[in-house]
Amino acid sequence: MCGRTQEEQYTRITMQPLIVVNFKTYASALGLNAVNLAKAMERASEDHVRMVAVVSAFDLSSVVKAAPSLEIWTQHLDPVGFGSNTGWLQPDNAIEHGANGTIINHAEHKSEHSRIEKLIQTLPEEFPICACAIDVNEAQSLAKMNPTFIAVEPPELIGGDISVTSADPAIVQDTVKAVQDINPNVRVLCGAGVKDGNDVRTAVELGAHGVLLASGVTKATDVDMVLKDLVNGLK
Ligand code: G3P
Repeated sequence: MCGRTQEEQYTRITMQPLIVVNFKTYASALGLNAVNLAKAMERASEDHVRMVAVVSAFDLSSVVKAAPSLEIWTQHLDPVGFGSNTGWLQPDNAIEHGANGTIINHAEHKSEHSRIEKLIQTLPEEFPICACAIDVNEAQSLAKMNPTFIAVEPPELIGGDISVTSADPAIVQDTVKAVQDINPNVRVLCGAGVKDGNDVRTAVELGAHGVLLASGVTKATDVDMVLKDLVNGLK
């Protein structure tokens, strides 16, 4: 990292394809297991790829401390300030605990679009926000809100054995095109069923800027091997 100007560093981060691992609430990715998984991701990281761990809000601090060079996002945030907001996930509080990005509107945790828009307007410009879309139409609506990323994930393929990149390559290509037509600043990720380096490579060939995945890593018997394969898929 040293020796790079701020602009070079920004360009490098912007161009790098992403491997975003959503820890969800898998037992293998909570508490101490979250720490160990984040450390494994840190070990697997290479310069050509941007690795991101998306962790439970409860685990933010411990994961950030254990894997300081890894980019850590939170799984959801609410567009609320300080005050009477019981149970909501307050953005400044997440940032204070080390979150340096977030996903929002995951198929397993949908948000009203007005709230997503408010959240995007609330967050600092340099704080990446990845808005999830279940299809091309939703991706088009979200693109107008100018999130950093849009991740397209057909719900029926989430947690399954067939990667979106082979089950429905058209949804990846169509989302990339539709989003680019509306807002070329937004980079598109794809997810659902992504398991290995081949799926990641195909995602990029289809025009995506990277992948969002979970079970391929959280259910792996050999996490180091899976992470290495995912990273090698982008070489
Ligand atoms: O957020 C990632 C996700 O929903 C995809 O899950 O298990 O199909 O990789 P999975």
